[in-house]
Amino acid sequence: MTTNNFKKNILCIGAGYVGGPTMTIIANKCPDYKITVVDISKERIDAWNSDQLPIFEPGLKERVLKVRGKNLFFSTDIDAAIDQADIIFVSVNTPTKNFGEGAGKAVDLQYIEQTARRIKENSRSNKIVVEKSTLPVRAAETLETILHSGKNGVHFEILSNPEFMAEGSGVRDMEFPDRVLIGSKDTPSGLAARKELVDVYLHWVPEENLITTNLWSSELSKLVSNAFLAQRISSINSIAAICEVTEADVTEVSKAVGRDSRIGAKFLNAGPGFGGSCFRKDILNLVYLCEYYQLNEIASFWEQVVTLNDYQMERYVKRILQVMFNTLVGKKLAVFGFAFKPDTGDTRDAPAIYICKRLLEEKACLRITDPHALKNARKDLEGIDSEVEYIEDPYKAAEGVHGIALITEWTEYSKLDYQKIFDKMEKPAFIFDGRNHLDHKALFDIGFNVYSVGKAPLTHF
Ligand code: UDX
Ligand code: ADP
Repeated sequence: MTTNNFKKNILCIGAGYVGGPTMTIIANKCPDYKITVVDISKERIDAWNSDQLPIFEPGLKERVLKVRGKNLFFSTDIDAAIDQADIIFVSVNTPTKNFGEGAGKAVDLQYIEQTARRIKENSRSNKIVVEKSTLPVRAAETLETILHSGKNGVHFEILSNPEFMAEGSGVRDMEFPDRVLIGSKDTPSGLAARKELVDVYLHWVPEENLITTNLWSSELSKLVSNAFLAQRISSINSIAAICEVTEADVTEVSKAVGRDSRIGAKFLNAGPGFGGSCFRKDILNLVYLCEYYQLNEIASFWEQVVTLNDYQMERYVKRILQVMFNTLVGKKLAVFGFAFKPDTGDTRDAPAIYICKRLLEEKACLRITDPHALKNARKDLEGIDSEVEYIEDPYKAAEGVHGIALITEWTEYSKLDYQKIFDKMEKPAFIFDGRNHLDHKALFDIGFNVYSVGKAPLTHF
């Protein structure tokens, strides 16, 4: 199909947090491929074509600038791009359904289906269609049925190639992936399509890091990976609650437990609960799948990971309330960090949203600060933010407040002059370090009453 000097034309439909960065890395690593990224949102595409990229991800902008206009193109002309493509990545959003059957758990597949129909309508040559968005198990079957319905003589081969990058470290995760997973059918055309995608990744990924499976294993592995990671966080957060009442220290416990090579040290940091666009959504998707197959005990096992996460966020709020003499009415609280994790401006399902809403219900006045997420924070709290100020400078945010709630562990928050902050706060001054990110002993020596997660408080009372 290629009508230019490139070896192949790759198209990505959906220019979001997954599509944009993934295609940027592929374009950087594969100068012999032409990569086009399209989206229904003109605003998004304009942003990708500007100096203000629509998402913040360390290292991304340099890589976009290196290849944009050479072999990486952002466009809204979806139909023409489909026609010209050899390989189409589908990277549109797959949120949790909030209506009808499966509401709150199942994936809302409307964007996927719209995309599949559009691919079908605009294809005049055979294509490989790659599922990049996280989809329910056996979604490839649905895609294939839609694409091959109503004969137009075009053959579509479906592959599953789930994304494992984490935000904030997305560039590194994609440049040096632990593994790349490619699911395909075990037919001659399935294996040929798989080889085409393998060839793309072999430009920079060692062969031993490429895992090939059948389609359903690939789709399920994505859900299971996220479920296992989230489950570790809920596990350590449950232990944090025990630590707080027994004088054990969750950091010490996590270090001791994680040194067992069978367990491993990663993803054992207690916090205010996990957030982000994937964990909750993917676990609930897994739960829905189990319920569908009447595996009810297994569904409730995994659902407990989410229940525990909700409990953890609520526990954080309750602790603030209880420590601050059981009333927050009219009290000022500085919120340090709103993004769901550092090094991103993304606030999707961020614990800060729930925590701030609850603090506002208790009639606290919030001063929210974050290096990259204030724009999203305004949207998330729209309509309930009459008692919220959004302040870029953390020193200003903390001026005159009764307490500080640290929700995101931005590096800059560990480097602030807390003596200066303390001097301008109401007394007694409280700090609730939701990420165990700060030097608690130093804060205590300054005069703060320090409450962290899974550790005994350090107080002057
Ligand atoms: C996750 C998966 O890691 C990634 O492989 C997948 O492709 C997408 O979903 P992401 O949501 O971007 O990535 O970030 P991640 O680093 O996994 O963090 C998710 C949440 O867990 C954050 O809110 C983070 O603060 C929290 N977390 C993480 C903890 O509370 N404790 C930990 O030890 C690790
Ligand atoms: P993710 O984190 O999975 O990348 P995002 O919401 O960041 O999710 O991005 C998904 C993108 O897909 C959005 O920019 C959205 O506008 C785009 N999109 C949704 N439906 C379609 C469609 N039918 N055609 C093209 N783009 C679409």
